[in-house]
Amino acid sequence: MSGIKIAPSILASDFARLGEEVRAVSDAGADYIHVDVMDGHFVPNITIGPDVVKALRPHSDKVFDVHLMIAPVDPYIDAFAGAGADIITFHPEAGAHPHRTIQAIKAAGCKAGLSLNPGTPLEALWPLLGDIDLVLVMSVNPGFGGQSFIESQLPRIETIRKRIDASGRAVDLEVDGGINFETAPRAIAAGADVLVAGTATFKGGPTAYAKNIATLRGAR
Ligand code: DX5
Ligand code: ZN
Repeated sequence: MSGIKIAPSILASDFARLGEEVRAVSDAGADYIHVDVMDGHFVPNITIGPDVVKALRPHSDKVFDVHLMIAPVDPYIDAFAGAGADIITFHPEAGAHPHRTIQAIKAAGCKAGLSLNPGTPLEALWPLLGDIDLVLVMSVNPGFGGQSFIESQLPRIETIRKRIDASGRAVDLEVDGGINFETAPRAIAAGADVLVAGTATFKGGPTAYAKNIATLRGAR
């Protein structure tokens, strides 16, 4: 069993059957349920809010990995924590005080993640690496599923992997965007240990989920 975790992004699921979809990928071997929250302001798209997270919570006992693409973040932390988020990840560009946001996420009882856009300097991460539980490297520009993997993120993943290992702390290194059967092994080779996959997980419908997840993970 590899140590690689798979986090299906429910953005690519059938929104008319969201509870069943979350149950199906949970049964099919997902490790995290990746929930993409978009506000039409920080990113161009609008998706779902805390009430939907709350409605989905009884459908899965997996880790709810909530990716906030919203600004501001702080006023919504308690609502997502109360709805059942386990990890709350945000983008440093969403506010002036990312360290305060990390403190607020932890005070709400959740693990904290920091997400880096393809153009976000790694300098935004280093001062905060000792305070977070997860780094989310965006390998597409946030806002939409189904985009192509941006190659320039691979060396950044390698650099972050070295720093995490040197820290000795348990920090997830998660990659999000354009992960498929071809890019997944390359992201893993660069040092990622959690792969978000929307299109590649949900392709083929429920009967394909277990095989899709196993293939992404590298299990034979
Ligand atoms: C993009 C989201 C991703 C996206 C991934 O803003 O953060 O989680 O849904 O979709 P795929 O796997 O289809 O690239
Ligand atoms: Zn995401």
